[in-house]
Amino acid sequence: MAFNSSVIRADFPFLDQRDDNGMPPCFLDSAASAQKPRQVLEKIDDLYRNSYANIHRGLYRQSADLTALYEAVRIAVDDFIAAYGPDSVVFTKNTTEAINMIAASWGQTAIAAGDDIVLTMHEHHANIVPWQILAGRQNAEIKVLGLNPDLTLNLAQLPALLSAKTKLVAVAHVSNALGIINPVAEIVKIVRKHAPQAKILIDGSQAVVHQPVSVRDLDADFYVFTGHKLYAPVGAGVAVIRPSILANMPPYQGGGDMIDRVSFSGTTFKSGPARLEAGTPDFMAVIGLGEAIAYLQTIGMDRIAAYETELRAAADNALATVPGLTLWGADAPRIGIFSLSLAHCHPADTAMILDAQGIAVRNGHHCCQPLMEDLGVTGTVRASGAIYTSMDDIDRLVAGLQKATVMLTRSGRKAATS
Ligand code: ALA
Repeated sequence: MAFNSSVIRADFPFLDQRDDNGMPPCFLDSAASAQKPRQVLEKIDDLYRNSYANIHRGLYRQSADLTALYEAVRIAVDDFIAAYGPDSVVFTKNTTEAINMIAASWGQTAIAAGDDIVLTMHEHHANIVPWQILAGRQNAEIKVLGLNPDLTLNLAQLPALLSAKTKLVAVAHVSNALGIINPVAEIVKIVRKHAPQAKILIDGSQAVVHQPVSVRDLDADFYVFTGHKLYAPVGAGVAVIRPSILANMPPYQGGGDMIDRVSFSGTTFKSGPARLEAGTPDFMAVIGLGEAIAYLQTIGMDRIAAYETELRAAADNALATVPGLTLWGADAPRIGIFSLSLAHCHPADTAMILDAQGIAVRNGHHCCQPLMEDLGVTGTVRASGAIYTSMDDIDRLVAGLQKATVMLTRSGRKAATS
């Protein structure tokens, strides 16, 4: 089946809207959160209207049905990213919670004074701050893998950062700020060779959306991602945890559903993912995640990757025509994220001029302040695509950036001469 962009776009009700000029939304902020297909929206709507009940708590039909749907998503996630079986899939509310849970639970027993945690310059704050908090508590040290001139990770530097003290290496599969695809399989091999005792966490938030992923092939110990970037409702995240590690992780939060038996003289806990899922989870978002995965699998992640790669290359060429434009990481392997700077234009001004033309982009540091500092900028304009992004969207972006350049350069000149 060929990838048909107009058929895909028709699945997203958000794109049916028209502005006063009859134009559809030009939504280029899918790396922050993606629009939802009607298959996901209709499923959630139907369940809320007709079959709603809490899960894991009732023997009656609605509760049992929803429990079965929720648990089926573990199987779907396992299949989607070739995890270590459904029992390796823990649901959280997003990537941030997944990483915080791993840091709080696994980290408190595995990281001790004098240990090292290795991060990279590409990391989102969600893959920096939880480790800094842990390192502060345990008296461990954070080490950071830097960049090559083309903004890819400097792998040659990695062996020197690894030692018997390294307990964790945490790396983004794809940089959310630049779209650069990191060679995570190679990184895992280097870590296994130079620090075999270290565990490896891969933040797949921007990767699982755009390409097929196999956690087993990558040999990651932890692989985390969020559902709302993957066309699912807000509120469902995933932490895939190698079962031998999960078996020894202490509870993260206490409460209902994670216990075996509670008494005032002591409590015993469930094993497996349930131990880390205290309280009523956002099970509707998780079920929506299952629908989103089914939707993507019907299209095929290979076909999605091929379409988006072609669009990214065409977009790179189109953006190169904008005077004074810097495309950060232009020569590195990238997905359809375009991190831009326009000469003499502040990213916030550029984003506001684009918004006035119906074009939605993110501006600022993209939750990557250390990376921005390394690039020597306070922020960039980031346009990011998804399966519903078309060449028309890119053409509108290019025209919008050209207009922003003219407007801001002119007002800059005026300000300088007045
Ligand atoms: N992490 C999301 C982004 O990169 C919010 O925009």
